[in-house]
Amino acid sequence: MISLKINGVRRQFNGDPNMPLLWYVRDELGLTGTKFGCGMALCGACTVHLDGKAVRGCVTPVSAAHGKGVTTIEGLDPKGNHPVQRAWRAHNVPQCGYCQSGQIMQAAALLAENPDPSDQQIIGVMAGNICRCGTYQRIFAAVRAAAQEV
Ligand code: FES
Ligand code: FES
Repeated sequence: MISLKINGVRRQFNGDPNMPLLWYVRDELGLTGTKFGCGMALCGACTVHLDGKAVRGCVTPVSAAHGKGVTTIEGLDPKGNHPVQRAWRAHNVPQCGYCQSGQIMQAAALLAENPDPSDQQIIGVMAGNICRCGTYQRIFAAVRAAAQEV
């Protein structure tokens, strides 16, 4: 039995402990804001927080979350008003939107750990999150803006 919290709600998981966390949150809990992209830790679309750290849900087994707290995009802020989300809106970041929950979760984890990152730190941390629409400049501007607020 795996015991964990998802967006503050305690859950018990009795299935295969090797199931990717991404499958659990999407297919079993219906939290579909987290996306499947590559399934190989190469794109960042599946990024969630595990005890506040950004992890790739596609390669993180549910067992790794035992006794821990998972936050998905749905749980980042009850009204979608996390500073990163506000900055995302102000800078009109998304294009198709597919990569964006992963981008936001990655940026939020970065700013929680380092509220005043350098430009190079932002670029370095966000480099693992791929956007095939090429919204990188707006992502950078929004992370820069959000850093003024956290
Ligand atoms: S789907 Fe997990 S990193 Fe691409
Ligand atoms: S907004 Fe389309 S993939 Fe990033």
